[in-house]
Amino acid sequence: MSRTRLVVLSRRGRSSLPAAYWRRLEAAADVCLVQRDDAPARDQAVTLLRDADLVGSTNLCLPRMDGALLDALPRLRGIVLYATGYDHLDVPDLRRRGVGLCVMPDYATIAVSEHALALLLSLATRLHLAHDRSRAVVRVDTSLRGVELAGRTLGIVGVGRIGGRLAGLARGVGLRVVGHDIDRAAEALAAARGVEMTGLDDLLRRSDAVALTASHVLGRPAVIGRRELALMRPGGHLVNVGRPDLVDTAAAVAALRAGDLRGYAVDDVVVDAARDGDLLDEGRLLQTGHSAWWRDEVLERGAWMWGDRLLGAVLGHPLDAVTWPEPAAPHLTRPLDDMVRA
Ligand SMILES: NC(=O)c1ccc[n+]([C@@H]2O[C@H](COP(=O)([O-])OP(=O)(O)OC[C@H]3O[C@@H](n4cnc5c(N)ncnc54)[C@H](O)[C@@H]3O)[C@@H](O)[C@H]2O)c1
Repeated sequence: MSRTRLVVLSRRGRSSLPAAYWRRLEAAADVCLVQRDDAPARDQAVTLLRDADLVGSTNLCLPRMDGALLDALPRLRGIVLYATGYDHLDVPDLRRRGVGLCVMPDYATIAVSEHALALLLSLATRLHLAHDRSRAVVRVDTSLRGVELAGRTLGIVGVGRIGGRLAGLARGVGLRVVGHDIDRAAEALAAARGVEMTGLDDLLRRSDAVALTASHVLGRPAVIGRRELALMRPGGHLVNVGRPDLVDTAAAVAALRAGDLRGYAVDDVVVDAARDGDLLDEGRLLQTGHSAWWRDEVLERGAWMWGDRLLGAVLGHPLDAVTWPEPAAPHLTRPLDDMVRA
């Protein structure tokens, strides 16, 4: 039987994984490391991945895994993503083709929940704007007037790992918290942890600020659009550390311009600075360019977790598989960490 061929795409090259993982991977498979700053275009991707059984990639380096590319990669049987969210991938199509997908839940939960609180605090305190004003990036007469959060209500949409942790952080600054989740089990867990759970419309009506920490599925409509924005309290804040597609950006911009929404903070870049630069200058739109997870501890934890998942896929023990072609080996009884250190 030929050895498994693994292609790893990453900006950080060999420093993406602890050395022990490279040793184990290279002992078990033919490993090709491709260090690059972006995702390869289709033709280049075909050349790089044509012979791959498994692909490990960060989101930054992953090519568009659409039908045309997957058609050109008949050997491919698994993708090991350095990411929690996978809404850019068509999971049913991967499943149909017998291509597995492993992800990394929880590696950035602490960082992203802290980032969500930081975004909310920034909108409330106008911290980002005060900084811009002190550097004369915006006019000196720009208003820095903000609001206090204590005693207000935060509605958390998607009370999973990140949302659940955010609930605790928010209570720490005196916010009341209500939550909403479409998953019964997540709802029950959040309720057991003391979060008052309710329907989306009720949450929107009751909340002074809404935080989106929900996962997103490719092709699913935005959770917050014009109708939902209209249900929010006038002058509310909206924070989105999930995916930009959770919000209808045009509707959010319109609500900001109408003064219905006081501030929108999103961990991505969603507006054209040439067209909506005034909202950025006024600090009502805050964009942090998918930086929530970029923390020392997350990078260290992520390297170990990615190594586990790459090695697991190579050895036939997929970890945190969203989907994986049968037959997968029986579930591991010994953590891969131990095997690497052994
Ligand atoms: N900004 C970043 O750097 C960063 C980093 C990691 C994760 N994320 C994003 O955060 C998301 C959440 O991560 P997590 O670890 O908390 O995931 P999770 O699966 O633990 O929680 C997500 C929750 O959202 C719920 N949900 C999905 N759609 C919903 C909807 N329409 N309404 C209400 N609830 C809904 C799910 O049922 C689930 O309970 C990820 O999917 C990813 O997109 C962002």
